[in-house]
Amino acid sequence: MSPLKFMGFLMIIIFGTLHIMNRSKIVCTCAPEMQHVLARELEMLGFSPEQTDKKAVTVSGTFEDVYLLNHCLRTANRVLFHLFSFNAATPEALYKSIHNFEWEQWIPLSGYFRVDSFTRNDYIRDTRFANLKVKDAIVDRFQNKYKRRPDTGSAHTGAVIFVHWVLDKVQVYVDTSGESIARHGYRQKGGSAPMLENLAAALVMESGWDHNSWFINPMCGSGTLAIEAAMMYAGIYPGSKKRYYAYMGLKAYRESDHQKRIKAMNQRPVTKLKKLIIASDYDKRAIEAARFNAVEAGVGHLIDFHHCDFSKTPVPEGPGVVILNPEYGIRLGEEDVLKDQYKAIGDFFKQHCTGKKGYVFTGNLVLAKSVGLRSSRRIPFMNGDIECRLLEYELYKGKSSTDRASQPANPPPTE
Ligand SMILES: C[S@@+](CC[C@H](N)C(=O)[O-])C[C@H]1O[C@@H](n2cnc3c(N)ncnc32)[C@H](O)[C@@H]1O
Repeated sequence: MSPLKFMGFLMIIIFGTLHIMNRSKIVCTCAPEMQHVLARELEMLGFSPEQTDKKAVTVSGTFEDVYLLNHCLRTANRVLFHLFSFNAATPEALYKSIHNFEWEQWIPLSGYFRVDSFTRNDYIRDTRFANLKVKDAIVDRFQNKYKRRPDTGSAHTGAVIFVHWVLDKVQVYVDTSGESIARHGYRQKGGSAPMLENLAAALVMESGWDHNSWFINPMCGSGTLAIEAAMMYAGIYPGSKKRYYAYMGLKAYRESDHQKRIKAMNQRPVTKLKKLIIASDYDKRAIEAARFNAVEAGVGHLIDFHHCDFSKTPVPEGPGVVILNPEYGIRLGEEDVLKDQYKAIGDFFKQHCTGKKGYVFTGNLVLAKSVGLRSSRRIPFMNGDIECRLLEYELYKGKSSTDRASQPANPPPTE
């Protein structure tokens, strides 16, 4: 190869990869009310939140950072990497600006992509129309340039382009997650009303459990809260179960860099962990499902499961967190039955859990009053479209702690 040709070749490689080394805005989306927990999680991963909105936290980083974010984030839904923005007042203006972008830097010619969008303006009522306009603009660009084009469709098996068009302002991203990362991939068996994994992770984080005291989860159902707590304790990231992210369908994806970054995140000191997590449910099938899911998540050895009424859950002496997610009583007539259960939770806290922090996660604030204790914090969350609260109770050792006299002393086990 002549020196001139070699230089040309080198320049193509350098300019072709510059765009992935550039820093850009990275928007991590989440459920409403989860943004503050997500912002703290991002800080713990070494990112500085630049903007916190109702359903998203924005940081800045390189394309490589999306590998780590998708792998590690426990409370997010998606990770969007910003490409460019412009103003558009008509679908034709949208088409034109999308068409002008250098998509060949991002989507492989022989690849596959889908388009998603969020629109709020008078120009487009149906997001499907926006998706089609964007898809056509990208495909036409490839067709004009190469007489060939990538495939398109609705599957999450390739790259995903995400367009956010509110009033005249258009932001274009690559959705680097594709399928939502709210699910952490270990739940093979559900229970009645299983909680979404990223919500459970957010509740564990909000409880402030210190990984050095007890974490007790009566009414565990399919085990989501206990499993999320155990995964954090063991340093297992949710991405350890996931095989495909939409960034893998992009031209910028480098498998070797990916492996390096993920390997570095997964390297943790090998220490023997104490069994600090206790979970129980009175439904035999729920306990079986929870056990199964815990093994799937790689934390089966860290959780002590019990098949019993919540009030019989073993509560060892010493500090820690006791967290329950009882049913909310959505159907008519259920509230009356559940009132007694919520009251019994209050009694359980008073009689067996003093010295710990008690938490009840519920979507029914009327029922929550039946707990009969004064909450020290009421933290709002959304469970799907149900407004919920994580209610915190300081269970001081006071007069009622005398009730513990009948409980055997059982300090945290030593190694
Ligand atoms: C809303 S679900 C919990 C869902 C759980 N967070 C999950 O992610 O799967 C409530 C659970 O409480 C259990 N439950 C209801 N009453 C109970 C009782 N008296 N003792 C023990 N468990 C009970 C049910 O079997 C059910 O699994």
